[in-house]
Amino acid sequence: MRLADKRILLGVSGGIAAYKSAELVRRLKDQGAEVRVVMTRSAKEFITPLTLQAVSGHPVSYSLLNPSAEAGMGHIELAKWADLVLIAPASANLMARMAAGMADELLTTLCLATPAPVALAPAMNQRMYLNAATQANLKTLASRGILLWGPDAGSQACGDVGPGRMLDPLELVERCCQQLAAEPLLAGVKLLLTAGPTREALDPVRYISNHSSGKMGYAIARAAREAGAEVTLVSGPVTLATPAGVTRVDVESAEQMHQAVMSRVSECDLFIGCAAVADYRPAQVAEQKIKKTGDNDQIHLALIKNPDIIAAVGALSDKPFTVGFAAETVDVEQYALDKLQRKRLDMIAANDVSREGQGFNADDNALTVFWQGGQAPLPLADKLTLARHLIALIARHYRH
Ligand code: PMT
Repeated sequence: MRLADKRILLGVSGGIAAYKSAELVRRLKDQGAEVRVVMTRSAKEFITPLTLQAVSGHPVSYSLLNPSAEAGMGHIELAKWADLVLIAPASANLMARMAAGMADELLTTLCLATPAPVALAPAMNQRMYLNAATQANLKTLASRGILLWGPDAGSQACGDVGPGRMLDPLELVERCCQQLAAEPLLAGVKLLLTAGPTREALDPVRYISNHSSGKMGYAIARAAREAGAEVTLVSGPVTLATPAGVTRVDVESAEQMHQAVMSRVSECDLFIGCAAVADYRPAQVAEQKIKKTGDNDQIHLALIKNPDIIAAVGALSDKPFTVGFAAETVDVEQYALDKLQRKRLDMIAANDVSREGQGFNADDNALTVFWQGGQAPLPLADKLTLARHLIALIARHYRH
């Protein structure tokens, strides 16, 4: 009973492989899972709701606007109920709608509303699977953390041979067991994390800042949450949505970020400094907008040093396990190692920000992580994938 007490929401979309869903429900239940089924409109053309109701032991949901279903377990409640959402089969059409973020029927709405991991078992004709549009949708979904299980390759119902067969129900059950059984890497760990840029005011309408988008830090917040951590994200001004389950504290300047971190650091086990904090701020903030005058071709700004937040964390006598970043354009390794030692860090992620297509404000990144006596390269990947690898690496050293 490897899925005892686990709640699996099985989504069934329209495709010939839908006939295997009844078998899948039975095999999930064999392992002790409680299974609720949600069907798309077209799935009902391939298998009846009555069949899936009989094998799951619960009414099958398929309408977003059904008052009696909403009076039972409403769609938001259903989204929150699940430990895992598995969509099998996942058709090309369903994946396209999910990639577009549509909430046009119950199943796509649930996928947007659920805090649980979502896994797709794609099933379709091999040409449809290999089509550039489908592949682009899969890439988009993977970059958002959707799990892709399969497809298998082989002979298809339509007579074609190639990739696009839904994984066997027993294989899908095994994936569910692995996904849900694994002890989360950072279960119960309290993580405090900084992300994004800071803004250092010059006058009421101007500031000094940098190109950090917050994408790397937000991806780390999400990956850490997935790994079971309690995450508090101290964020500079960015335009990103807060990852599900993460507590966010908004700040603007380095001094505010410093204050937000130092007032919370004693409660955390792990600190990660991913923010691009301004090293200096204007010595004076003009009360009124600084005016351009005809006789001044130059103005001079006096800057003073900001507090070094991560160095302040590293200097604490009972400091948390502390991980920094080093954004460098030259001598990356040397500067990173210097910061590791000078700021009393446990690990540092060196980020070569001189390279095209990675680092500041890019969707992808690559890092080399250093610690006392060791290093590990994390090759170029989208920031969420990279963040998951980074969290796994940090967890290994934190637990050591
Ligand atoms: O936000 P994105 O667009 O996704 O880009 C990601 C990133 C490039 C910003 C990120 O991957 C990264 O490299 N962040 C660190 C940026 C930085 O300011 O590095 P640094 O080498 O200047 O600082 C070293 C460390 O000290 C960092 O952990 C930094 O958070 C910390 N620091 C720096 C100055 C300061 N006053 N206080 C600090 O805590």
